[in-house]
Amino acid sequence: MSRRAHETLPVVYLNGAFIPLREARVSVLDRGFLFGDGVYEVIPVFAGKTFREDEHLRRLQRSLRAVSLRTSLSTADWHAVLQTLLEKNRAAEAGAIYLQATRGAGAREHVYGDEYEATVFAMCKAGGGKSYAAGVKAITHEDTRWQRCDIKAITLLPNVLLRQKASQAGALEAILLRDGHVTEGAASNVFVARDGVIATPPKDGAMLPGVTRDLVLELARQAGLPCREATVSAAALAAAEEIWLTGATMGVAPVIELDGKPVADGKPGPYWRRIAAAYDEFRRGGVIP
Ligand code: PDD
Repeated sequence: MSRRAHETLPVVYLNGAFIPLREARVSVLDRGFLFGDGVYEVIPVFAGKTFREDEHLRRLQRSLRAVSLRTSLSTADWHAVLQTLLEKNRAAEAGAIYLQATRGAGAREHVYGDEYEATVFAMCKAGGGKSYAAGVKAITHEDTRWQRCDIKAITLLPNVLLRQKASQAGALEAILLRDGHVTEGAASNVFVARDGVIATPPKDGAMLPGVTRDLVLELARQAGLPCREATVSAAALAAAEEIWLTGATMGVAPVIELDGKPVADGKPGPYWRRIAAAYDEFRRGGVIP
């Protein structure tokens, strides 16, 4: 059987056991199912190895703390789970590991007590390796999400609806605006180049502190590109010379069309070419040049 892109590989991790995907079951009373009460991570896999694992596990711990969700797994335990999953699925190719923890199953009450035991799940997905080098399309949309988007919560209905809207408009991503400023994409962070300066919105409750974003900022600074964390207005976005989206599985994607209009000349720009090369280099060698 050939592997389809994004196909879930056959062995998953659920509550301490590595089991076949088709046998994995969770209670209908799980708070993840009933309330979306949980957090998650997506960790890219290249050449069979996790990429930026420490950074993703650190953010996972931060998300868990932010929603007072306790699991019995230490960071070392999570690492072991990821390694075993990769081995059991012989995941030599590119892909990603998705993992999530929910508050567990119990009576459907908004208020939770100590009796809940977290449900912990992780799976490997094949695929990735998709190139965005030709550029992608995006739309802009009002940011309809809550005010704690810094928590990587599984409660993603707004993001789902926003991405669906983008897809229906023939675009990959919806770039979100709150009070006239860019927050991020529905599933990515945003960089904007204008007047020779590259800017990405600063970390606050309005956006997810992306692991790829942090790496791109570091690589841009190392490469001597004029990059800073600063608010980006809707007007600055509309007048951008370059727009990039960043995310674990997409890497750094150049936006060549926004709301049906070309970004600059409608081709990936020179800053993007430099950062994409630095990112690829880092991905292969794991070192900041
Ligand atoms: N999404 N912002 C949002 C809202 C995201 O969902 C993501 C990633 C990012 C980028 O973060 P990172 O570089 O750490 O992947 C920013 C993942 C891939 C997802 O939900 O599938």
